[in-house]
Amino acid sequence: MGSADAERALAVAKLVESDVAGIDINMGCPKEYSTKGGMGAALLSDPDKIESILTTLVKGICKPVTCKIRILPSVEDTVNLVKRIEKTGIAAIAVHGRKKEERPQHPVHCDVIKAISEAVSIPVIANGGSHDFIREYMDIETFQKATAASSVMIARAAMWNPSIFRKEGLFPLRKVMQDYIKYAVRYDNHYTNTKYCLCQMLREQLETTQGKKLHAAQSTQEICEVFEMADFYEETTTIFTAKKTSLETKIQDEDDQMEDPDVIKMAVRFDKREYPPQITPKMYLLEWCRKEKHPQPIYETVQRPLDRLFCSVVTVAEQKYKSTLWDKSKKLAEQAAAIVCLRTLGVPEGKLCEGENPLIAKRKREDRECSNNRDHGDDLAEPSHKKANFIEGASDMNVPEMPR
Ligand SMILES: Cc1cc2nc3c(=O)[nH]c(=O)nc-3n(C[C@H](O)[C@H](O)[C@H](O)COP(=O)(O)O)c2cc1C
Repeated sequence: MGSADAERALAVAKLVESDVAGIDINMGCPKEYSTKGGMGAALLSDPDKIESILTTLVKGICKPVTCKIRILPSVEDTVNLVKRIEKTGIAAIAVHGRKKEERPQHPVHCDVIKAISEAVSIPVIANGGSHDFIREYMDIETFQKATAASSVMIARAAMWNPSIFRKEGLFPLRKVMQDYIKYAVRYDNHYTNTKYCLCQMLREQLETTQGKKLHAAQSTQEICEVFEMADFYEETTTIFTAKKTSLETKIQDEDDQMEDPDVIKMAVRFDKREYPPQITPKMYLLEWCRKEKHPQPIYETVQRPLDRLFCSVVTVAEQKYKSTLWDKSKKLAEQAAAIVCLRTLGVPEGKLCEGENPLIAKRKREDRECSNNRDHGDDLAEPSHKKANFIEGASDMNVPEMPR
C-alpha cells in the first residue's frame, strides 16, 4: 500500500489483514500521484515517518510487514536507512536498485543492493534487473548473485514474456501471447487491459502489421482476430452464452418453485434517494399496522445460494407481499416487500415526491415540544423513549405514531 500516515496505514491493514499474506509499504514509486501526498519515494526523505509507519504496522497486525524502497544518492545513507528500517521488525525488504530520479532504462545499481544485503540480516529482495540482466530464467540467478540478495523481484521482464519463470527456457512469444489471450477470453478480461498486456509483449514489434492491428482492436473479438484466434473466441463465447442461459433458467426455475399464488407481487426496489433521510417504507408500514390495530408486519427473508441475493416476504393482516426483484441485502429486500404491501393497500410509503410527510411532521412537532420543554428547564426529565427515533432497525419497533 501507499501511505504517508501510520494510523491510516494501520486502519487499512486491519481491514484486509485476514485476506492477505502480508502488507508491503511502497517507498519506491517516483510518480507524482504518490509523492505529492508524501507517499512512495517521498517517504525516503522522511525516515521518522518510515519508522513510525512500519513500527505501527508491525505492532498492530499479525501478518508479515515488508517494504520496497529505492536507493538514496549515497551508498552509506542507503545502508543506514535500511538498518534503521530493519530495527522496526519488518520481515523483508525489497530494493529497487535505482535512485528516485532514475528512469527504468538507466542501469541498475547492483553494488548498492549488494552492500545492503551484506549489512542487514532480514531477507533482501533485489529488484530492477529486467532491463540489464534478465533475458531468461538463468539470468534471475545471475542477478541474485550480483546483488547477494535472498531473492529477486521481476516486473517488466515478466510482462514482456511471462515464461521468464520457466526453468527450461522461454516459450516463443507467439505461443505465450496466444495462451494469454485464451485466459483473457475465458476470464472475460476487459479488452483494454488485454490489449495493454499484449502491447507490452509485442514491444519492438508494435510497428509491424500485427502490432498496428492490435493497436486498432476495439474488442476481445478483434484482438482474437489479430492473432488468428477467431475460432477459439467463437467456440468459447458460444459455450459461455449457453452456460449463462442455463444458469438464468435455473434461477428462474427456482423462483418459480418458490412461487406461492397467495403472495401479492410487484417488481419494485427500494431506492433510499427517493426518501427523506432515515425515513423508510418499513416504518410507514409499521405505523399503518399500529393505526389499523393489526399485528406488526412479519418479514421472512431467503437468500438464493447461486447469486447470494435476497428476497423478503412480508405478512400483514394475514396477507403476504413480496417484490419479484432480488436484492443485495436483507435490509433492501425487506424494504422492497414493505413497498409492495403499502402500494397494494394504497397507503403512503414516505417518498419525497408524496409531499407532506407525516413522520417528518411528527418529528418536527416533537422537536418543537422538546425545545419548549428545554426552555422550561425540564429537558433532562424527558424519557428517552419519548424522543423521536427514526433510525432503521431498532427504530422499527419504536416509531412515533403517525398523526391520524
Ligand atoms: C506497469 C508497472 C506497474 C508498476 N507498479 C508498481 C507498484 O504499484 N508498486 C511498486 O512498488 N512498483 C511498481 N512498479 C515498479 C516495479 O515494481 C519495479 O520496481 C520496476 O519495474 C523495476 O523492476 P524491473 O526491472 O523488474 O522492471 C511498476 C512497474 C511497472 C512496469
